[in-house]
Amino acid sequence: MALTDAVRPAPLDQSHLADCLALSVEAGWNQTADDWLLFLERGTVFGILEDGRPVATGAVLPYADGFAWISMVLVTQARREQRLGTQILTSCLEHLDRRGLVPVLDATPAGERVYRPLGFEPIFGLTRWQGRGEKAVPDSARAMAASDLPTVTAMDAEAFGANRSFLLGSLFRRVPQYAFVTHDHTGFVLARPGRLATQIGPVVAASQAVAARLLEAAIGSIKGPIFLDLADRWTALSAILEQRGFTVQRSFLRMARRRALPFGNPQHLFVAAGPELG
Ligand SMILES: CC(C)(COP(=O)(O)OP(=O)(O)OC[C@H]1O[C@@H](n2cnc3c(N)ncnc32)[C@H](O)[C@@H]1OP(=O)(O)O)[C@@H](O)C(=O)NCCC(=O)NCCS
Repeated sequence: MALTDAVRPAPLDQSHLADCLALSVEAGWNQTADDWLLFLERGTVFGILEDGRPVATGAVLPYADGFAWISMVLVTQARREQRLGTQILTSCLEHLDRRGLVPVLDATPAGERVYRPLGFEPIFGLTRWQGRGEKAVPDSARAMAASDLPTVTAMDAEAFGANRSFLLGSLFRRVPQYAFVTHDHTGFVLARPGRLATQIGPVVAASQAVAARLLEAAIGSIKGPIFLDLADRWTALSAILEQRGFTVQRSFLRMARRRALPFGNPQHLFVAAGPELG
């Protein structure tokens, strides 16, 4: 179908929040209205409207240090494979090019087919594990306090490659009881409620052993289903998750446009905040 002006991607606003959420629900995704609100408030959500409702979306979230996250690339089932996804991505890329920001994202296998022809290169793989929380009293780390946020932000910036204090503050405030730091500030974990499961992430730590303690603390603080997106290199953590009865749900591929080098320091990045946030 040829794109007319009427179906060209345009920035959405908060009046489209419920329809955006309906698109991610249709795809079976875990995001909540809070997640969409973050993109609408802190970034730009492009949408293709039909009868005033988005049938395709893509969000860009600029981070402070030269790159931006692209996510929520969704096309309603009935309109797939008609190049709407490519059109949305093209608008996201033009927006970021004008700002001199490198686009980075975590691709589903379906998304990869759209991103590769647009110049995205693989950086590393992630695996989504799903399991259940145990609601035990965690003793392997201490509860995070708001006063820890500056240190947590610095640790995260070193590992992720950008200062994203607004995001860490937002995740912390959603359920502070899910947030932990090690006593010696060698790592932290955050988690937040999702539509289907509590999403653990990010986990940033000085070593895999520290990350394991933080994961124990988070899993012990959560009751019910859990999702977490672990970088594939951390095989000892995969083994721990398997022992706890976690199973693999799906894979993601971290990609950047015309760049195969990671930002930050992947040696300290264990669990991503989620494909929508990096
Ligand atoms: C991934 C998604 C956004 C693609 O949107 P779309 O509008 O169908 O994609 P396009 O029509 O622009 O397709 C781009 C290319 O990918 C191919 N492609 C898209 N979906 C495909 C599929 N399921 N199987 C095979 N090829 C596919 C198209 O044929 C096209 O290739 P071409 O340029 O050689 O013709 C859509 O399938 C979707 O919403 N999926 C569920 C959510 C998701 O995984 N989003 C990606 C998050 S990273």
